[in-house]
Amino acid sequence: MGCFRCAGKSRKKLNNVNKKDKQNNHSTTDKVEVDLNVNCKREDNNPKPDQLSLDVKSLNLKEVSNEGKVNGYQARTFSFDELATATRNFRLDCFLGEGGFGKVYKGQIEKINQVVAIKRLDPHGLQGIREFVVEVLTLSLADHPNLVKLIGFCAEREQRLLVYEYMPLGSLEEHLHDLRRGKKPLDWNTRMKIVAGAARGLEYLHDKMKPPVIYRDLKCSNILLGEGYNPKLSDFGLAKVGPIGDKTHVSTRVMGTYGYCAPDYAMTGQLTFRSDIYSFGVVLLEIITGRKAIDNTKSSKEQNLVAWARPLFRDRKRFCKMVDPLLEGQYPIRGLYQALAIAAMCVQEQPNMRPVIADVVTALNYLASQKYDPQIHLKQSCTKGSTSPQEGRKSHRTTISNGHSSGLETYSSRKGLSSPRVRSNDHRHFVNDDGFETDNYGD
Ligand SMILES: Nc1ncnc2c1ncn2[C@@H]1O[C@H](COP(=O)(O)OP(=O)(O)OP(=O)(O)O)[C@@H](O)[C@H]1O
Ligand SMILES: [Mg+2]
Repeated sequence: MGCFRCAGKSRKKLNNVNKKDKQNNHSTTDKVEVDLNVNCKREDNNPKPDQLSLDVKSLNLKEVSNEGKVNGYQARTFSFDELATATRNFRLDCFLGEGGFGKVYKGQIEKINQVVAIKRLDPHGLQGIREFVVEVLTLSLADHPNLVKLIGFCAEREQRLLVYEYMPLGSLEEHLHDLRRGKKPLDWNTRMKIVAGAARGLEYLHDKMKPPVIYRDLKCSNILLGEGYNPKLSDFGLAKVGPIGDKTHVSTRVMGTYGYCAPDYAMTGQLTFRSDIYSFGVVLLEIITGRKAIDNTKSSKEQNLVAWARPLFRDRKRFCKMVDPLLEGQYPIRGLYQALAIAAMCVQEQPNMRPVIADVVTALNYLASQKYDPQIHLKQSCTKGSTSPQEGRKSHRTTISNGHSSGLETYSSRKGLSSPRVRSNDHRHFVNDDGFETDNYGD
């Protein structure tokens, strides 16, 4: 769960406003609308308000009506003793990792006969009860195969713990960066599968949830992987209810993770759905390049992934230089162009030039369906130029959209740009009959 911090290690919080957060000192514009009657199973008929409700009240989170807010999923309450037993008293050999919220343990809860991941709030840590409450409330309202399931929680005295379904393959970050020796890098097909699934999770938050939710903490460490590398978004402690009616943004304190945070949001504090799209573009770039969003070990020009990538988007000959070397040339050149084009659109500086998530999903579902087979496709080699004979030199055209401030390079297929599937007026991205999204910037 995140607050403004250096990419990766969330304990290094940099934002003073987080201290205010701990003191429950929220501005009126920074309220998360939640449902106090959240659909949490009560194990008894105790009429006293439970600790979660007390937390919600003390945080001054705005109550909204129950209507239409509760989806099928229900979170349970667990006692601290039950969770201590599940993790053999939070033993070291159950330890999975640690983030800004606290330590995460693997556990087995007998009464539900399920292996779980238990996140225990560090009372001296940098994140707090607010993130805990928002996480419980958001996930209690959500139900989607690409969102991690919150099985339950414990709010007992000063203890706050979250109980999730266990994700056996850990986080995407662990599969992309600083691979342990002997660990196989992700192949191209798996990368596309993961990013398409993550996009569907985000689409659910933006377009299907009622009210719609801005995630605000999309990054590789928050994409968890289940069996078969099925991805699920996790950590909703920073989530915000999106703008309502004709409002275009929500005003908030700036929170997020360096390297993933949209520049417009960082500068103005105006949070929009397109802020998430920017973060999504950074994740997609990480998946393609194997580089970190921020990498302080690199030279200053290469530390920020987006800043490094932007000039390269303009030069097709350098596309294959952007690819993760761990792929060892095993990727489809056409798929690479398409994936880079989607990433380039998502990380544009102008938020209204970024695509909406539904179109990103369409494009990525298509990309993920185009399986790359190393047995029948040639290995790509940068030295030979960017197009392999099998991919067909004439079948693609990459154009630079002159005059657009982001200098975005766009991709278009031979089949043209036309599409009836345009989602909204302000949105100028099109999906062609390949299912690939392209654009008409500069029109
Ligand atoms: N449901 C889960 N199943 C399996 N492992 C998990 C689960 N949730 C978290 N983890 C693991 O626990 C570790 C810490 O996760 P956590 O979300 O607390 O921190 P983070 O995402 O690394 O950082 P941040 O605080 O910035 O989100 C990660 O390595 C992650 O892989
Ligand atoms: Mg996390």
